[in-house]
Amino acid sequence: MKERLEELRVSALQELQTVESAAALGELRVKYLGKKGALTEILRGMGGLSAEERPVIGEVANAVRSAIEGVINEKQEAFQQEETNNRLRKETIDVTLPGRALPRAAVHPLNKTAQEIEDVFLGLGFSIAEGPEVETDYFNFEALNLPKNHPARDMQDSFYITDEILMRTHTSPVQVRTMQAKGGATPVKVICPGKVYRRDDDDATHSFQFNQIEGLVIGKGIRMSDLKGTLLHFVQQMFGAQAQIRLRPSFFPFTEPSAEVDVTCVQCGGHGCRMCKGTGWLEILGCGMVHPSVLEMGGYDPEEVSGFAFGMGVERIALLKYGIDDIRHFYTNDLRFLGQFARM
Ligand code: DAH
Repeated sequence: MKERLEELRVSALQELQTVESAAALGELRVKYLGKKGALTEILRGMGGLSAEERPVIGEVANAVRSAIEGVINEKQEAFQQEETNNRLRKETIDVTLPGRALPRAAVHPLNKTAQEIEDVFLGLGFSIAEGPEVETDYFNFEALNLPKNHPARDMQDSFYITDEILMRTHTSPVQVRTMQAKGGATPVKVICPGKVYRRDDDDATHSFQFNQIEGLVIGKGIRMSDLKGTLLHFVQQMFGAQAQIRLRPSFFPFTEPSAEVDVTCVQCGGHGCRMCKGTGWLEILGCGMVHPSVLEMGGYDPEEVSGFAFGMGVERIALLKYGIDDIRHFYTNDLRFLGQFARM
């Protein structure tokens, strides 16, 4: 029995010399030391030994077990160390490498421009009013002094849904909605931002859908000079303190008198260049004193109060402010274009 134990020791240690993986090592542990392993197998014969032999053999068996176990544990530790080293080697990071920049979202230039415009008027004590994009003929035209068959309706080719319902062609209907909601109270001081729709073919300067911001002020003794001062403040906030405005007589059915407003050319500062076609001025909005009929339809007495109104295209302001040459850039979602506004 003693010889068999010695043989086991020799063969086990020999086999352990050449073991190459942690898995193979595990198998050898089972083979030699497991419950059904070779050592247990030999020790089954202990029952047949005499009382004197038993402790002697027991001692030898223990020595063989601990010798084999020792080598196995040693090897196991070596394998573990090796694996740790491999992982460390594989997972090293070069902390001197520059980081990968995360792409950051940017506010769309149209939203940015609209927010800037809104900020200027909020600073003057205006509040924001909104109305529906699907509008009635009454609010979009009728109550703005544009009865059916009025020739000025042709200025705004419309998307009709039914005879009486259309996509609003401008933000002016919000003027009427605001006045009617106020029930004759003054002052009224609102701006109305929103999308509008026209039956236009899209090109560099036209779009079937675009954004406007409307303004409306009503109170006792509101005069054209109030309109002019408000607009001058606005353009100087938007385009810089050097910006000037000029008012040209114009026509809108809902204002009388009406004017078109030009701002000093943002490119040449008024000297004349290609952008302003040599005039030194760029048209930016329409405005006027609210027509007495519009005041009446809004629930105000034109003998008691007066008001001014204006309307501008957000795309147009953004084109001028940022020197963009094609309105379609706003809608075609080219990230190379949009990304330029990330840090402005
Ligand atoms: N609603 C006009 C348009 O879309 C713009 C406009 C002009 C609005 C004069 C006004 C105004 O409030 O007074 O062409």
